[in-house]
Order: sequence, then structure tokens, then C-alpha cells
Amino acid sequence: MSAAETVEGGGAKKRVAILISGRGSNMMSLVKAAEAPDYPAQIVAVLSNRPDAAGLEWARDRGIEAHSVDHKSFANREEFDRALHQKLEATGSELIACAGFMRLMTPWLVDQWRDRMINIHPSLLPLFRGLHTHERALEAGVRLAGCTVHVVRSEVDTGPILGQAAVPVCDGDTADTLAARVLSAEHRLYPQVLALFAAGKYDIDHEIARLDQQSGAGAALYSPAVDVDS
Ligand code: GRF
Repeated sequence: MSAAETVEGGGAKKRVAILISGRGSNMMSLVKAAEAPDYPAQIVAVLSNRPDAAGLEWARDRGIEAHSVDHKSFANREEFDRALHQKLEATGSELIACAGFMRLMTPWLVDQWRDRMINIHPSLLPLFRGLHTHERALEAGVRLAGCTVHVVRSEVDTGPILGQAAVPVCDGDTADTLAARVLSAEHRLYPQVLALFAAGKYDIDHEIARLDQQSGAGAALYSPAVDVDS
């Protein structure tokens, strides 16, 4: 287990594990942000359900504990979730940030981490829950697309909304060009929101997340200029 770190001039950093399934670009943006001495969270582990997830190697090279818990070696979802939970506990994690973790979780696992597990989804929730968000945004003809960081609940892509970023949908966009624009907003938004969450700036009341007055609602938003071309 990695040693506890303290925030520059403050208390203990929150110990955070990141769950991934693939390339891990959001994980990288969280890890890089957390290297700042005044960041309120410390990334203590990266776990993947896929042993070949590219992000695992990157995290290891950065000196972060990285493990795979291969879902294929378990008889069912419950057993996998128990093994994952055990591993998370062994890392001493206090919070979990899901970043492209493509596995449905059992209500049991979600419950173990209630209000301590967050996720990033590539749409402006509650629009376009689930997969193929960019294709669906283009089909619907929305003029703004974006991403959402939310607290995880057992129903997929639901839960109190912590922060959102909006990007324009441009003429001629394909799902790929839109995905790239949203992804670069994800990389800005997620570290910003994890910092607020780890610092205890949210109050969750009747499934609505409210930021404390000092931070202000704008702290959990990111919106690049409308003439961005990437
Ligand atoms: C991101 O678009 C994230 O919002 C979604 O899955 C994708 C993961 O990408 N949940 P990466 O692995 O972080 O690069």
C-alpha cells in the first residue's frame, strides 16, 4: 500500500483508486492533476477488469500500483465484484473514480462505495445514458454535446450530477470528431470535479449534489469557446 500524502499546507489527501478498462486517457489526466502538491487527492491504485488495458502499463511506469482483476476468471458478476472490492480495500482507497470502466456493477458493489464512487460519462446527462452517445447526439441534432461527472448509483449512468462540460456540435461532425472534442473536455473536467469531491465540497441532498457556496456552481463547469476546432 502506498504511503499517505498530505495536501500542501493542509490535511491528508484522499486516497483514490481509478477503475479503467482500456486506453485510460481520463485516468492519465487524473494522475497528472494529482501530482500537484495542493491537489486534495492521491491516486493510490489503478485497477482494470482487462489485463491488456493499455492504461495499466502507463500507471506502473509512473510508479502507481496497477492491477488487473480479470472478469473472465470469475464464474459470475457477484464473484468478480467481490474480488474487485477486496482489491480496492487492500489499496486503502477511500474514493473510487471510474474512468472508462466498461463493466456493469452489482448493486452490492455500488452500495459498498455509496457516495464514494464517481464516474465520467461522455454526454450531458440525463441525455444519452449508455453506449454510442456521440452517434445518438448527432442523430438527435443537438447543438451542444459534452460530458458529465456523477456519483455512481446502481442504475447505469444515473446518480447525483457533480459537474458538466459542454462543447459545440460543429457542421460536418462525425461521431469520431465529436468524441475527440468531448474527450478533451473530459480531461479538463474530471480532475476539476475530483478535486472538489475529494475536498468534501459537495453535499448530496435528495439525490442532488450541491457545491458549497465558497466554491460556487461555476467550479464544476467547463465550457470552451464555441469556435474551438478540436
Ligand atoms: C471516455 O469517453 C469516458 O467518458 C467513457 O469511456 C471513455 C474512456 O476513455 N466512460 P479513456 O479510457 O479514459 O481514454
